[in-house]
Amino acid sequence: MPHLSRSDELVFFVNGRKVLERNADPEVTLLTFLRKNLRLTGTKYVCGRGGCGACTVMVSKHDPVSRKIRHFSVTACLVPICSLYGAAVTTVEGVGSIKTRLHPVQERIAKSHGTQCGFCTPGMVMSMYTLLRNHPQPSEEQLMEALGGNLCRCTGYRPILESGRTFCAESSGCQQKGRGKCCLDQGENAASSLGRESDICTELFAKDEFQPLDPTQELIFPPELLRMAENPEKRTLTFHGERVTWISPGTLKDLLELKVKHPDAPLILGNTSLGPAKKSQGHFHPVLLSPARISELSMVSTTSEGLTIGAGCSLAQVKDILAGRVSELPEEKTQTYRALLKHLKRLAGQQIRNMASLGGHIMSRHCYSDLNPVLAVGNTALNLMSKEGTRQIPLDRDFLAGLASADLKPEEILESVYIPHSQRWEFVSAFRQAQCQQNALADVTAGMRVLFQEGTDTIEDLSLAYGGVGDATISAQKSCQQLLGRRWNEPMLDEACRLLLDEVSLPGGAPGGSVEFKRTLVVSFFFKFYLEVLQELKKPGKLLSVPDGHHFPEISDRFLSALEDFPATVPQGVQRYQSVDSHQALQDPVGRPIMHLSGLKHATGEAIFCDDIPTVDKELFMALVTSTRAHAKIISVDLSKALELPGVVDVITAEDIPGTNGAEDDKLLAVDKVLCVGQIVCAVVAETEAQAKRAVEETKIAYEDLEPIIFTIEDAIKHSSFLCPEKKLEQGNVEKAFEEVDQIVEEVHVGGQEHFYMETQRVLVIPKTEDKELDIYVSTQDPAHVQKTVSSTLNIPINRITCHVKRVGGGFGGKVGRPAVLGAIAAVGANKTGYPIRLVLDREDDMLITGGRHPLFGKYNVGFMNSGRIRALDIECFINGGCTLDDSELVTEFLILKMENAYKIRNLRFRGRACMTNLPSNTAFRGFGFPQGTLVTESCITAVAAKCGLLPEKVREKNMYKTVDKTIYKQAFNPEPLIRCWNECLDKSSFHSRRMQVAEFNKKNYWRKRGLAVVPMKFSVGFAATSFHQAAALVHIYTDGSVLVTHGGNELGQGIHTKMLQVASRELKVPMSHMHICETSTATVPNTIATAASIGSDVNGRAVQNACQILLKRLEPIIKKNPEGTWEDWIEAAFEQRINLSATGYFRGYEAFMDWEKGEGDPFPYYVYGAASSEVEVDCLTGAHKKIRTDIVMDACCSLNPAIDIGQIEGSFTQGMGLYTTEELKYSPEGVLYSRGPDDYKIPTITDVPEEFNVSLLPSSQTPLTIYSSKGLGESGMFLGSSVFFAIADAVATARRERDIAEDFTVRSPATPERVRMACADRFTEMIPRDDPKTFKPWSIPIA
Ligand SMILES: Cc1cc2nc3c(=O)[nH]c(=O)nc-3n(C[C@H](O)[C@H](O)[C@H](O)COP(=O)(O)OP(=O)(O)OC[C@H]3O[C@@H](n4cnc5c(N)ncnc54)[C@H](O)[C@@H]3O)c2cc1C
Ligand code: FES
Ligand code: FES
Repeated sequence: MPHLSRSDELVFFVNGRKVLERNADPEVTLLTFLRKNLRLTGTKYVCGRGGCGACTVMVSKHDPVSRKIRHFSVTACLVPICSLYGAAVTTVEGVGSIKTRLHPVQERIAKSHGTQCGFCTPGMVMSMYTLLRNHPQPSEEQLMEALGGNLCRCTGYRPILESGRTFCAESSGCQQKGRGKCCLDQGENAASSLGRESDICTELFAKDEFQPLDPTQELIFPPELLRMAENPEKRTLTFHGERVTWISPGTLKDLLELKVKHPDAPLILGNTSLGPAKKSQGHFHPVLLSPARISELSMVSTTSEGLTIGAGCSLAQVKDILAGRVSELPEEKTQTYRALLKHLKRLAGQQIRNMASLGGHIMSRHCYSDLNPVLAVGNTALNLMSKEGTRQIPLDRDFLAGLASADLKPEEILESVYIPHSQRWEFVSAFRQAQCQQNALADVTAGMRVLFQEGTDTIEDLSLAYGGVGDATISAQKSCQQLLGRRWNEPMLDEACRLLLDEVSLPGGAPGGSVEFKRTLVVSFFFKFYLEVLQELKKPGKLLSVPDGHHFPEISDRFLSALEDFPATVPQGVQRYQSVDSHQALQDPVGRPIMHLSGLKHATGEAIFCDDIPTVDKELFMALVTSTRAHAKIISVDLSKALELPGVVDVITAEDIPGTNGAEDDKLLAVDKVLCVGQIVCAVVAETEAQAKRAVEETKIAYEDLEPIIFTIEDAIKHSSFLCPEKKLEQGNVEKAFEEVDQIVEEVHVGGQEHFYMETQRVLVIPKTEDKELDIYVSTQDPAHVQKTVSSTLNIPINRITCHVKRVGGGFGGKVGRPAVLGAIAAVGANKTGYPIRLVLDREDDMLITGGRHPLFGKYNVGFMNSGRIRALDIECFINGGCTLDDSELVTEFLILKMENAYKIRNLRFRGRACMTNLPSNTAFRGFGFPQGTLVTESCITAVAAKCGLLPEKVREKNMYKTVDKTIYKQAFNPEPLIRCWNECLDKSSFHSRRMQVAEFNKKNYWRKRGLAVVPMKFSVGFAATSFHQAAALVHIYTDGSVLVTHGGNELGQGIHTKMLQVASRELKVPMSHMHICETSTATVPNTIATAASIGSDVNGRAVQNACQILLKRLEPIIKKNPEGTWEDWIEAAFEQRINLSATGYFRGYEAFMDWEKGEGDPFPYYVYGAASSEVEVDCLTGAHKKIRTDIVMDACCSLNPAIDIGQIEGSFTQGMGLYTTEELKYSPEGVLYSRGPDDYKIPTITDVPEEFNVSLLPSSQTPLTIYSSKGLGESGMFLGSSVFFAIADAVATARRERDIAEDFTVRSPATPERVRMACADRFTEMIPRDDPKTFKPWSIPIA
């Protein structure tokens, strides 16, 4: 609707340049504005709801209260541009550039190898940059805090932290430096012969080369903005958008008047509540009132009784204010402040804390709010204001429940919050438990306060409030009332738990699920509080008198471990690798830790990803309409409303496909029926992204449900619903072997996994005017597959289609198959409309549509001797394949082939089947079945160890391959490197002595248990088919001597382009600086194989080598003739002599085959061996754990690039850790995926890195098979993450033994806090009510 009044001009600065927006739209976020309007594409879109930090930028504002400039990081995806009036924004482009001057933060993150795919890097850079603007020499704690809101899916964080640490005051650098063991002590090439410790390098970059940080070089706050701030505009500013009006009053009086005029308009501050609600729940407000310019809302005042904080203060400011009061006041007065501070350290990430306001937090009344329970028990009062005047209301149970009588009136605002001091004899505490320690909403959060009658332990007042256990924060008022007058002792504890479970009751099907866990936490938290207070009361001289002469119950030291929280510590560690031979030419980069070719560009935001390509002429945007039913007939599709909307150009359906619509059982666009929620039915094409998305909402599809609807593996088995025949391998005589030994029959469940590549799926299709040609820019691991699919969909020859892949923001297997589907649908749109089409999936849609790792259900029967020797093993596995075949048959095959892992078991039977269910189709994922299958094998080993009373490592060792042998599929191999990895891992991690220390710790601690585990690994790389092991390359030498290398691999972050140039550089003997790789394109290297299965660098490296050798051979006569000439001389001469300076290289690949009938073959070219040990500490009362130490030894043979390979190991280990501990997909009983973003799907964060994390590449190892004797390490590390899982299981087993609970148990994977807590059964898990599953509909269903 057009507005009569005109908009004001919005003024702000970006990177020192003034932005003047005459038609600022309140619905436009800073992220969109930067990317679309200013074409600053360094800031990335990943989740759009503040959860990942990829869009971090720095905002600088003049603070009217302190009169200083405040610099703070924000997530641009949640910042409406209208909120930036008078602010200066700095993006990654404003920090530095490779064209002008790099900032030290950018230089260091790149050179420390902190970038892989580079999609998270600009966000990381901005978080660190902002930290340094405020603290040029930060502490390590500040560094962790600053990066806590930034996710990275590739690196495992260690190198990122290391780069940040170089700025820290207490930075330590290489632990070997100065001891003569560090390669940089000796110069990189000083090491002598192989195999000696002095050949081992422990630094991957040279810190001394870094430019120093010079804070005087930073952009200054624009003087114009300073002038504006000093003479603030008192006038109300109004910005009218297409649908929303933003009103920003300049005075409090105007704000109050506006609130009368617009009583329903929300006050918008951080937008961290309103923004996500708009995105995911479609909340819409036509008028927004912004109080950002009202300084009264940021005032802070103190009295002798308490503290008043303005509602407009950010949570970061609140944290500082509280910390200030805590340092000034005696401890007894600051109980509430300390409890709030505890939560403020963990609440969200730094960016959200910078943006979110105290008022917004309180008023949002989120059920998971961390602060409201503490504020509620702390007798907080809310100071309200309206045109009529002021009043105060308590922040109590009724307010939190949203009762009108206890709430703000529509014309009122929250001005400030009064938090009284605590008093003597009063104790306040806060508790929370989330899936991860940092940047995760709590499952349950609590605030607790007790006041004792003076000098006694008699309860005078008690307040307990919980979040996460209902629609709102709940105060357990009744329970508290009944406990008044009771003494603080065990009987009171028992009574309190009983009362709490009665009052804070959760129905079995409560939203959010995890009901029994939450009930347990309600009482476990109270127990922690009980102990904490008891501990305080016990302090000498605390109590004046104890009634009846009773003594305090003693708390033995063993129980005190329940009290401590896990601190977030900056990880330490050493990375060991073999230095190159001392005779290797200096120019030869092979084997050296060369920085990722795009590292610096990642760090400056200059690396171009698919959606960073500028808008092309007449480009349209596509959005997908997906099924909302799991199995249904499509009755009708009504597009009329969608087509009427402004900007909508067309809706693409199956009828528009000129060629084939995918496969019969796997259609690109649904026809007649749908097989899962999230299946693509049609696609809207509109002028803008917003218009396309609005039209999606208006597309109406009528369905009629079909039977059966199958989601779980159990149901699929019941219905015999399978995607392919069973795969089976067998050796020995399993049945007979079972007759003579003890047996265990168990089940193992392994959950699925979302790829969570930071760059969602995206494609840009540009139709050309001639000959039906198409240019496709796509984020894929397999451009040839996209090309082929588009060809068959449009019914045009492959030679008209060119797919380009510059780089991919993470793939992990998720961009092998799906990009072809999306590319083909977008191509149909381009074909029909004649215009370029851009399709960028939202994070929610990406997670909904694309599928991931197959969940697995395994049953094993293992026969063993008392000695731990396994005589027979029979494993039957089922994977949940979803609704179409995709890669499920191949995954089943790999699962069966690889499941024996490192063990020689004479009588062995493996069977596997892929279940067909009504879920989105699962697909390739790093490790391809291995991480799931081996968890079954390793679980079975652990179970045998427990039964035999042996340590699991002993049983592992006993059953491992020892000599040259044949696998279950009769492929011969030599396990020597496996044994070496195992022994080195035990040795380097001091495993056996730590076993004793762990046992000692466990004896002394009842509520905390440590666990230790070590796992061996034999991982086969490659595809089980010869035709997949071919590769080609094209190398051109230009007349100036520069070299252009093209090959069939795609740059996914794994550094393949860097490695390829290292190969080319060695072969041509030309420095890498002379060389370039532009992109992967189907026009330069045709018929490529997907970059997957860990062999991309192997096979493409051989092709590049071949091309270079051909060229060098052609150049040989010229070089011979003029041996003293330069490279440029030779090339010039070659050109003169008409020598072809372009060559195609080809690698015919490894032979690989598998005969499933016979059960034998040679399916894999070679194995990667490794071992990992991990130690964890588990909090038995909450299920949380911390990772104390991990040691990995990996047989990389002669690594092409140790920095890249160690990066792959660390990154895949961390991804594996996520698979086995935190990443949990949740589906509704109707088959709708709930977990569709970083809020509800938790990948590891920076606080999940083991406190000590050591990685060693096995020295002196060789393989004759591969290029320069290197090995592909892309996937293998995933499985090593299971060492954390088994360490947790070890800790849980210890807890259970101590509690005398039967030892036969298996923790399901992922070992989430919920599962761990419930496995550590105790009096609290026993006292919770359990519902009969038949009496309620669960909120979510397990699909594994
Ligand atoms: C990624 C992410 C992670 C998070 N993690 C956590 C977490 O771990 N723990 C946790 O507790 N919370 C978490 N949150 C929630 C966060 O704390 C709240 O969203 C935030 O505090 C809201 O503040 P805001 O200023 O952004 O509110 P806005 O979104 O700007 O406003 C929210 C509401 O408050 C009202 N309001 C604001 N100020 C006033 C006022 N002065 N008077 C009257 N009404 C007012 C508005 O009308 C509006 O309805 C997270 C949020 C995000 C996005
Ligand atoms: S895209 Fe903004 S936080 Fe994820
Ligand atoms: S490098 Fe961090 S997400 Fe890829």
